[in-house]
Amino acid sequence: MRVPWQSWLLLFLYQIHQANGQDDANAITLPKEVEACNGIFLQYPFDSRQKEYPYLKNATAQSWAFKSELIVLNTGTTELKSWQAFIGFQHDEILVSVDGATVLNGDSFPMKVEKNGTHLTGYPQADLKTAIDTAGDLTQMSAKVKIKGTMFGVKLGGNVMPTNIKLENEGFKCPQATAKASICFFFRRAFGSTMESSIQSEI
Ligand SMILES: *[C@@H]1O[C@H](CO)[C@@H](O)[C@H](O)[C@H]1NC(C)=O
Ligand SMILES: *[C@@H]1O[C@H](CO)[C@@H](O)[C@H](O)[C@H]1NC(C)=O
Repeated sequence: MRVPWQSWLLLFLYQIHQANGQDDANAITLPKEVEACNGIFLQYPFDSRQKEYPYLKNATAQSWAFKSELIVLNTGTTELKSWQAFIGFQHDEILVSVDGATVLNGDSFPMKVEKNGTHLTGYPQADLKTAIDTAGDLTQMSAKVKIKGTMFGVKLGGNVMPTNIKLENEGFKCPQATAKASICFFFRRAFGSTMESSIQSEI
């Protein structure tokens, strides 16, 4: 049987489409600030939120469904073993699913955070390799955590961000707690090490 060339073309285009689709699902889009980071870069992109039932007159009691991410990326020259980070949730968040990390101070979902914030550790991506050791393979250098949950009382246009995000591993210079979405943690100058710590900065 002769297969017309148009069919091959369609099959080819379909495969390209499939491949792109897969890439998109796992892709990590990084902001320009990453370029100034030589250490561990953390980012908390807030994806979306939507008013949940029941709709209430009392805005303080209103619940909202939200989706956000935590991205942890090694842009330094030292592998980071068992990354651990803190998200300072401040809107009585209730976590419904956390994909890509284990919650250290919690048990089962739905998980009340109250005002305590959440400590996360990488799972399954616990260790973040360097670009040097992986020829710049982002999938081995970074972890992406997908968070889904409920938050309370933030009116439209209000600040949906946590109080801060923080890397909790030992040996890092941590910038002041900040409500900004991206932050870079520099390696401290360690004993006998040639690791150079750049100026502490906040992005
Ligand atoms: C609105 O909801 C908040 C939080 O649940 C509650 O503390 C407050 O008393 C409520 N206000 C009114 C007027 O019902
Ligand atoms: C938050 O921290 C307080 C004080 O340590 C504790 O009593 C409370 O149980 C914690 N809440 C949650 C949801 O972990």
